[in-house]
Formats: sequence, C-alpha cells, structure tokens
Amino acid sequence: MATRPPRDSELEAILEKVRQVRNFDFRNYKRATLQRRIERRMQATRCRTRAAYLALLEREPAEVSTLVSSMLIKLTTFFRDREVWQTLEESLAELIRQRPDKELRIWSAGCATGEEAYSLAIAAAEALGPGHPGPELKVFGTDVDEDAIAGARRGIYTPAQLENVSKERLARWFVRTGNTFTVRKEIRRAVVFGVNNLVSDAPVSRIDLILCRNVFIYLDSDLQKRVLARFQFALRRNGLLMLGRSELIPFAARIFRPVDLARRIYRKDAHVEVVTTTQDRLPPEPTLPPRLIAAAIEPERSLLRDLLDSQPCPTITTDNDGTVTFWNRAAARMWNRNEGDVLGKKLSALGLSGLIGDLLIEQTGRVRNGRTEREFSDGLLENAGGDSITVRTQVVPLRDRTGARQGLLYVTHDVTTARGVEQALQSVQEELQSINLRMQSSNEELRASNEELETTNEELQSANEELQTTNEELQSTNEELETTNEELQSANAELDATNRELAHRTLEMDSLAFTQRTIIRTLSAAVLVLEGDGRITTWNLAAERLLGVTEREAVGQKLWSLHVPALKRPLIQKLRRHLQENRSLRLEGVPYQLPHGGTGSATLVATPLVTETNVLGSIVLFEDTTRAAALLEENRLLKTKRKA
Ligand SMILES: C[S@@+](CC[C@H](N)C(=O)[O-])C[C@H]1O[C@@H](n2cnc3c(N)ncnc32)[C@H](O)[C@@H]1O
Repeated sequence: MATRPPRDSELEAILEKVRQVRNFDFRNYKRATLQRRIERRMQATRCRTRAAYLALLEREPAEVSTLVSSMLIKLTTFFRDREVWQTLEESLAELIRQRPDKELRIWSAGCATGEEAYSLAIAAAEALGPGHPGPELKVFGTDVDEDAIAGARRGIYTPAQLENVSKERLARWFVRTGNTFTVRKEIRRAVVFGVNNLVSDAPVSRIDLILCRNVFIYLDSDLQKRVLARFQFALRRNGLLMLGRSELIPFAARIFRPVDLARRIYRKDAHVEVVTTTQDRLPPEPTLPPRLIAAAIEPERSLLRDLLDSQPCPTITTDNDGTVTFWNRAAARMWNRNEGDVLGKKLSALGLSGLIGDLLIEQTGRVRNGRTEREFSDGLLENAGGDSITVRTQVVPLRDRTGARQGLLYVTHDVTTARGVEQALQSVQEELQSINLRMQSSNEELRASNEELETTNEELQSANEELQTTNEELQSTNEELETTNEELQSANAELDATNRELAHRTLEMDSLAFTQRTIIRTLSAAVLVLEGDGRITTWNLAAERLLGVTEREAVGQKLWSLHVPALKRPLIQKLRRHLQENRSLRLEGVPYQLPHGGTGSATLVATPLVTETNVLGSIVLFEDTTRAAALLEENRLLKTKRKA
C-alpha cells in the first residue's frame, strides 16, 4: 500500500497561508518540490526555521506572492525538446487535413511565459501555409501564474530565450528591436493568453490539440486524474493530447487512446469512456454455457436440479418478465431465503443485497432486448459471519433447444479474494507510479537547477571577464598615476629651485630697495614718486622739510588733492596736466613759501615713468635753489659795482 508520509504541520500551515492570501491550493502538489522551494525562499529571506518563515508570511503578504511564484516553476523555451516538434508538426498537418470545421483550435495548457504557445502558433502557421496564419488558427495559452501570462502577452524575448529558434524562423516571425525580439503581429493575433487554473477553472472547449507539458510532474495522482478528465472534456473527437517527455501517466492511457506513447501523444477516441472502477481488470469468471442450462431444465429435471443445487455458485433463473423460476441451494444459503419464498416473485422486488439496481434494471434490460449477450456487475453483501464480501453477478439469456429466449439466468461469484489481490496489485502499481513520478519531477528539477547553474556559471564567467578588464584598466590607470606622480615630483623640484632663486632675488631686491630708500631719504632735493593717477608712494625727508607735509600725511593721498603749504595751486594743476599727458616739465626759479616764512626759489623737474607699453607713474624732484639764486644775485651786484 502507498502510505502517505505523516503530515508536516508547519508545511501545512504555510500552504494554508498561501491558500488564504492567494486563493491557490498547493495541497495536492508534490510535497518534495514544495519543500525544496520553501527552503529556497527561507534561505533567501534568512529564516532559519519554518516557524520564522511562517511569521514572515504573516507579516509580509508580498512574500506569499514571491513564494507562489517560486513554487510554480516556469522553466520553458521555444520549441522545447526539439525531437518532439517534428512529430508535432506531422500531427498538426494531419489535424489540418482532418479538422471538422475551418478553425484549428490549439491549447498550450501551463504555457508559463508563452514560448510554447508561440512555438505552436508558428508551427501551425507554417503547416497552414503560405504566409499568414489567418482567421482559421486559434492558439490558447493559459497558465495560473498572472505575471507569466502578462509577460507572454508582451511577446518580447531576449536572444538567449530564442536559442532554439532557427535563423529562418527568427527572420520570418520576429521583429528585432534593439537587443530584443518581438513576435510578429500576425502570430500574436492568432494567440489568446489567459489566466486559468487547470484544476479548478472551466477548461477551454472544442480543442483539436492540447499541449500540456511539464505540468503533471508537479501534481499528485489525484490532481493528474482530475486534469486529464477535464482535457477529455475539452478535446474534440479525435483531438490529440501531448504530455511532457517525462510524463508517463497510466491513467491517460485509460481515458485516451495512445497514439505514440514514447512521445506521450494520445487521441480522444469516441469509444473510450472514463473508467473509474477496476472492474475491467478482473479475470473473467467461469460461466455456464446457457445452452447447457436450457437443456438441463428439460425432462431429466430432478437430475439437473441436483446438478444445479450442487453448484457452489448461487444460480437463479427468471422468465422474460423477471419472475423467479429457479433458485438453487447456494442462492438459498447466500441470501438466507428458501425457494418457496422467492419462486413466482419478481427478482427485482426481492431486495437481494449485492444485486444492484443497475444490474437488475438497465443491464438485464439490455440482455433481454438482445442488445448484449452478457452483462455483469459487482456488489457488496454481508455473509452470515458478518464479514463483507464482494460478489460479481453475471446475467445471460436462458435459451431453449431451438435457441429461443425463455428467460434469464443469473450466476453469482464470490470475488472477495480476487478483489483483494487486485487492490494490492493496484496499490503497488500506484506506489511504483508515484515513485516514478517523483523521479521524473526530481529529474525536471535537476534539469532546471542545471540550467540555472549553467546560467550562473556564464554570469560568473562574464563577471570574471569584466573584473579582468577592470583590473587591466586599473593597472593602466595606476601606471598613469605613477607617471603623473613622477612628473609632479620633478615639477615640484623645479618649483623648489625657482622658489629658492626667487627668495634669493627677493633678498637682493629688498637690500636694493633699502639702499634706494636710504638714498632717496638722504637726498637734499625733495623726491616725490607718484602712481599713474597721482597717488603718492614716496615722500622723502627733504620733501617733508621743503614742502611742509610729513611722509605719513602724504603717502597714499593724491598730490592733486593734497594741501601743500609751500606750493601754489596753479603750479600743482600745471604739473597735473603735464603728467596726465605724459609730458616732462622743468621749471627753474619756482617761487615757493619757505617753512619758516619768506619766499624761496626752487627748481622743479617732473618726469613721467613710461615703458614702451605702460605708464608706471611719475617722479617729481623739487630742489631748493634759494641760496644759489642769492649767491648769483650777490655776484651780479658785485660785478656791476666793479664796472662802475
Ligand atoms: C515548467 S512550466 C512548463 C512550461 C511549458 N509547458 C513547457 O513545457 O515548456 C510549468 C507551468 O505550469 C504552471 N502550472 C502549475 N500549476 C498549474 C495549474 N494548476 N494550472 C495552470 N498552470 C499551472 C506553472 O505556473 C508553470 O508556468
């Protein structure tokens, strides 16, 4: 017997939380897959225990959505499992030839991000040929994951996602936009995407081909049966169903006719009905040939009666109306009723346990009308010891020597042991199937993990290459920095030398300036140095003495606006005009007021300081000539006297 593992209460609580928040029931999904996906999320969210993760789900509803998305594994590619597509293309061509009306309807159930639905539309469009798919093609792409369907509707894929698409198909059915490819309009018009839960939502109907690949591996056998029954309803007569490479589900072969089991292709056959019991697998029970019995009810009645009474199986005959005409000892034992109680009464009115209504009404009717030669049905009854036993009763026509129907013959067998063996066999089979499916799902996950690893590896390689490039760039930047550093150091050394030279020159200049200042200070003539606008920068001791203004009062003032007691205003204005026009001025015998009263005489020389391009200012010399003038006068007077 397949025993379910004990329920894991925390896992149940997580699934319950998902059911409450997202209205999605994962309880019949394979536990092992769910556990692994939950553990992944626990690692990603750094939750050490399931209880901590459950608390996180309580706090953050967004994590519930992330978990659901992670549990719905959406691994897919265009034209996935290439070898299957060739067969599929042939099947499409056949469906197109045989389709009952003009429209070809295809369903990609569990299509994830749409690659499978578009692949189907492309293959069908090509099979329909030439050029465009037109109104006769309709592909339905459904999935329970809303985000995946939203992505599918956009129809935009990266070159990596289109790896399996040939160059010709890429050129014919996709448009390049930058680094991505968009599925062309004519294909997109033929594909209708929708959110649909295969377990609980109404299926799409009148379908010619269903592709449901790599979805069953996540479901337990109950859900698988449920979804398969829905597919049976969705398909048109002779419609095809294709499952995934690793999805060999025995139940599928019971409700569909296998067309290519290796490729998991089945056909909906009008004559195959949904089988939910195990009757059809019981070995056929031995039957008494009707003719023998008919003959037995002839003259040697007592011998035959003994013979039938000796039969271990309960045996009953009725006439064509259903009135009991014979009842053997085994029947009397089984139902604890004597022949006298039942003869002449309607069999259906006796209420015999184990003989169910279907057998007594419908199936008997079919045998009576000659529509079938033999019907049987199972039932349960309790024996004298109180044990429940399973019986199988067979009804056949009772014919006379000429073959005419005289009534009906019912023979009942105890099939309890056979049924027990059958059930044990069935559970072993189911267990095997569940192990098989677990392996298939692990395989699928391994493949998914492998692909993820390959992607991660490629990313790591490219990150490594980028790091190497960055490293090389850093090295070259480093070298450049070192060169620059050296250049800076040498410039620094040059600057140092220049600095030292400048310091030396400054010292020289300082001493020169000092000497100049001392000379100027000690000159007997007044020396005034002016800037271009007449502002005084130098005013020596002689100027203080001759002009009656101290150095402190004069320096920084403009000569034109300074009150100089010794000089007349018109003289200063004349001086200003000359210097502003960069002209020199020399005046002899200039009268000026002596510091201690009286009038003195002086020579004034003003010279603009002009280079080839610049006016630096001017220098004014004011030399007292009073004494020299007096001596000259005295000399002149003496000469005059001498002549006289
Ligand atoms: C591995 S992908 C298969 C994609 C595609 N069929 C293929 O083989 O390439 C499985 C898909 O089944 C979807 N799925 C799982 N349970 C579902 C349900 N109850 N109803 C509809 N889709 C379901 C998931 O969302 C996921 O996109």
